[in-house]
Amino acid sequence: MLKLVNFIDESFDKQYNTLLWRNSECVSKYFLIKSINPEVHIKWLESLHESKPVNIAFFINYKNEDVGVTYFKHINYNNKIADWGIYIYKIEARNKGIGSIVLKNCIKYAKDELNLDELYLDVLSSNHRAIKLYENMGFCVLSKNNNVIRYRKNLKGRSYDN
Ligand SMILES: CC(C)(COP(=O)(O)OP(=O)(O)OC[C@H]1O[C@@H](n2cnc3c(N)ncnc32)[C@H](O)[C@@H]1OP(=O)(O)O)[C@@H](O)C(=O)NCCC(=O)NCCS
Repeated sequence: MLKLVNFIDESFDKQYNTLLWRNSECVSKYFLIKSINPEVHIKWLESLHESKPVNIAFFINYKNEDVGVTYFKHINYNNKIADWGIYIYKIEARNKGIGSIVLKNCIKYAKDELNLDELYLDVLSSNHRAIKLYENMGFCVLSKNNNVIRYRKNLKGRSYDN
């Protein structure tokens, strides 16, 4: 029912068109950067093809429909850390548990495929649904800066912060 499809296995047009999703009001209002410009987007898409990519992105495919995007960024293979992000573009697909399944899968991917020890993410303090999701999944507050909260999750067995 739910699949994560790597961007690099899809057509360039399909990858490129996610810019419209990311810049749409129903997504951008949840991010500090409200609009991504096309040059930055193309550079990001190109970076997905590197051999040890610092960015990896997946389409969230639910019941054979692409409903959003999830991604790792700033992947540091030496320090075994990365940042993670998500947006469900289709409003009707929110609040149905999709984000929880995606995050569970991404945590497993980060551990098993990327061999990471820690995941980090930033969220606007007004985004209560996202915060609930992250705390449900064991992310702990690392810092608060104005309206942005930075979370961390330790991926190694038993640990100081879950
Ligand atoms: C944030 C997002 C990824 C969450 O995914 P989702 O599929 O909607 O989330 P889920 O249904 O798996 O879980 C949401 C949780 O928040 C809870 N929730 C929903 N609305 C809430 C609210 N207003 N306040 C607090 N908790 C809320 C739900 O009850 C659920 O918790 P539960 O599983 O303990 O019942 C998705 O809603 C989204 O993409 N939103 C827009 C973009 C965005 O905010 N991206 C994140 C930027 S940091």
